[in-house]
Amino acid sequence: MQTITFFANKGGSGRTVSTMALASGFLAQGKRVGVMDCSDLAGCEASPLRAWLQQILRCELHRQQLKLIECETREEVEDGAAGAQAQGIDVLLIDTSARTYEPQLVALDMADLIIAPAIGPLEAKHISDSVAKYLDTPKQFYGLVIGSHNGLPIAAKTRKAFGFHHVLKSELPWAEALSEQMLNGDIEQFVATLACKPDEPGFARFRAAQAAWNAVQRLTFEVEWAFDGYRLEELDGDQSIAHFGRKAVA
Ligand SMILES: Nc1ncnc2c1ncn2[C@@H]1O[C@H](COP(=O)(O)OP(=O)(O)OP(=O)(O)O)[C@@H](O)[C@H]1O
Ligand SMILES: [Mg+2]
Repeated sequence: MQTITFFANKGGSGRTVSTMALASGFLAQGKRVGVMDCSDLAGCEASPLRAWLQQILRCELHRQQLKLIECETREEVEDGAAGAQAQGIDVLLIDTSARTYEPQLVALDMADLIIAPAIGPLEAKHISDSVAKYLDTPKQFYGLVIGSHNGLPIAAKTRKAFGFHHVLKSELPWAEALSEQMLNGDIEQFVATLACKPDEPGFARFRAAQAAWNAVQRLTFEVEWAFDGYRLEELDGDQSIAHFGRKAVA
């Protein structure tokens, strides 16, 4: 089992949205997914993850593959993870709260990958400044830029504000398909329900949801590579076929 813990010590950073989005990405790959709610709303009626789960259970697509585990104490986190492993869960995604207490620290400790989402430079700076306070070895730490809804320059500033930490190349766009997951459930299912032809009403909404779903799948693949220690890097220098051809001749 691979474990991802979402970390952001500022509220409204996009942890819950990212947890649900990556769950959809892994479900679409046929994986068995455990979502652990280790946030302030775990066990509450108002829990967004509970509402989201109810929507997923209503549709046929992935309901057998998903399990929600709600944890309020350190023991519940440890037992929940051990139970998920025993039940054959492939990927465990842990949503946390902005305040980092014992259960959240345990969730960070057990992570194979820590993903820190940030909607803007403020969140990214706040997170990067406090990583050392909570994490001993930030080698498996990845920042995640959410939503270039403020424009590309802001997304670039957010990336930069993570400082020397690794940042995933794939970004989560700002999209209805992501913000409304609590109401719509699985993103792939949501896109399927909107599907229509270009001359039919609602086509723009369908295309936007489809684009968001494509971005989520790209992110999911990048995260899978990160489990194996691979990182997407910019390719430097001449990448043309002619260049490689010349090299081969030489
Ligand atoms: N990619 C996105 N597209 C659209 N809206 C988004 C996106 N990411 C986050 N949001 C919106 O930003 C707000 C905060 O996101 P989210 O609830 O995921 O953050 P959080 O870190 O879990 O916050 P909290 O501290 O409340 O737990 C939500 O209202 C959500 O709808
Ligand atoms: Mg949340």
